[in-house]
Amino acid sequence: MMAATPNLAGDQATLGRALAHLASPRCVVMTMGALHAGHLDLVDAATAYGGSVVVTVFVNPLQFGPGEDFDAYPRTVQADCAALAGRGVDVVYAPTSADMYPGGEPQVSIVPGPAGERYEGKIRPGHFAGVLTVVAKLLGRTRADIAVFGQKDAQQVHLIRQMVHDLDLGVEIVTVATRRDPDGLAASSRNAYLTPAERQRALALPRALHAGAAAAADGVGAEGVRCTLAASLDPGDGLTVDYLDLVGPDFVPLGGTSTGDATVIGAIRVGTTRLIDNMPVTVVGPGHRGCGRARPLPLSP
Ligand code: PAF
Repeated sequence: MMAATPNLAGDQATLGRALAHLASPRCVVMTMGALHAGHLDLVDAATAYGGSVVVTVFVNPLQFGPGEDFDAYPRTVQADCAALAGRGVDVVYAPTSADMYPGGEPQVSIVPGPAGERYEGKIRPGHFAGVLTVVAKLLGRTRADIAVFGQKDAQQVHLIRQMVHDLDLGVEIVTVATRRDPDGLAASSRNAYLTPAERQRALALPRALHAGAAAAADGVGAEGVRCTLAASLDPGDGLTVDYLDLVGPDFVPLGGTSTGDATVIGAIRVGTTRLIDNMPVTVVGPGHRGCGRARPLPLSP
């Protein structure tokens, strides 16, 4: 029977007791809270398995670097529980830092490998080690059969899949397409930081990714897609580009003559807010269109 109001477990012992009564398969949706429609899509995907659903809410200090928004990150666990009521969630696990890391920062952590050193990993050193370490702990604590993640964090999902494969973690990883607001901006808890004017500027990112996706389908080739991305996103006016690129399924920059499934990815800063986004694309051959006189890429991986 569908749970009306999730049980709130604030520590590992309470979670363990709650897990004893849950049906299989057990799906986990990991979040940092401040839930929005994109998170609810993940929850709906989890409930569709017909077993039980655990949502974790934890702002993980390990994945924030110095000067990032760890302190400012919205903590809204009561509102999050209210948003989950009636959605078939059995347990919300919202641990404290002391519960998650009782001995302080763990001495052993997960090394993300080469795909974790590019893009987000390059701009945010230590970020993916922090993400993978907490994901591994949460998989262990929730004893999940299935874990559902959003495609919006494409590099994160790639690395989680790699970790599960390389370390034989025995959990199925499911991804859900990015939820977009009507104006095209990808749903993100960090959108709440944007002023209306910043939000308008931020729309340049999904526009550029759409242009890159259209160029890929037009057969301009990988370099042509990169030129289109770069030409479509004009830095300045309070907008900085951290990176824009086209990557293959292994999250390596797509080579010049490669075709097939790929992803256009980007990260920008608008004022003090940093946003990431991506779109799946199919690169159609055999094009080799260069940049001509277009600007070079803002940042190579
Ligand atoms: O994607 C997120 O919200 C976080 O990186 C995650 C997976 C919950 C780990 O803290």
